[in-house]
Amino acid sequence: MSEVLVLKLGGTTLADQAHVLDEVASVARERPVVLVHGGGKRITEWLERLGVPSRFEGGLRVTDQAALDVAAAVLRGVVNSELVSDLRDRGVDAVGLSGVDGGLMIAERVPGLGLVAHVVGLRRDFLDALLVAGEVAVVAPLARDEQGIVCNVNADDAAAGIAAGLGARQLVLMTDVDGIRDAAGQKLATMTADAAEKLIADGVIKGGMVPKIRAALAAVGWSGAVAVICNSKDPHALSRALHDPAFGTRITAARGTTEAPAAPAPRRPEIGS
Ligand SMILES: Nc1ncnc2c1ncn2[C@@H]1O[C@H](COP(=O)(O)OP(=O)(O)O)[C@@H](O)[C@H]1O
Ligand SMILES: [Mg+2]
Repeated sequence: MSEVLVLKLGGTTLADQAHVLDEVASVARERPVVLVHGGGKRITEWLERLGVPSRFEGGLRVTDQAALDVAAAVLRGVVNSELVSDLRDRGVDAVGLSGVDGGLMIAERVPGLGLVAHVVGLRRDFLDALLVAGEVAVVAPLARDEQGIVCNVNADDAAAGIAAGLGARQLVLMTDVDGIRDAAGQKLATMTADAAEKLIADGVIKGGMVPKIRAALAAVGWSGAVAVICNSKDPHALSRALHDPAFGTRITAARGTTEAPAAPAPRRPEIGS
């Protein structure tokens, strides 16, 4: 299993995540890092600013061509460039790309959501080459679908697909809450596929947490990775996610014991392409 760390940042503004980038810089000196980012709030801001309507279904943004144009510009242009620049400020060799570049992500359209796709494969050799060269790969969640149309990908789905495709040992999904909460509002230290599906069915896990937990479960089921969902606001969020079992919600099911997630979560990525 690969030592690579796959980290997804989302939920807060980049300014709030300066301390996480400091931690990324120190981890990146020791082992390869792939940083996947969302951009939900920034995309929403720009959609509003430009007067482009949008809505969410099951935690996924329904994306028409106008919304996709804005999402692609914000993700690949604004957010990705800022992250690469912020990492370079910290002495990290970082390179920005999306799932479109180099054919990195192989994706299939999610029915009913417009220009939204989910990751079904990874061009691993291309990503490996970047990591071997000592680059931190900063990945924007865009990918071409089976017809070659550029689509939006949920960033948790993108991170899980990359973790599974690389056989990464650790997947960290940082967000704006402490972890998954149960019906009583209590943060859960661990989570299984069965418990997650029950909490989703009961409406306790909803919105953006649904694709997040499904992505985490899928990565764990595919590659035996340890996935952690945690709050990026903690000043030591990354080191706690990697070392403190009480931090966040941990999804640690052994390989093969996790049920295949329900659609629209991705299938096992094919290695190579
Ligand atoms: N059971 C739950 N436990 C924790 N968070 C939940 C739960 N159900 C829904 N959520 C929501 O999921 C959100 C995180 O997903 P999302 O908004 O997509 O953020 P991100 O940008 O990190 O992907 C939280 O802010 C929270 O409001
Ligand atoms: Mg989300």
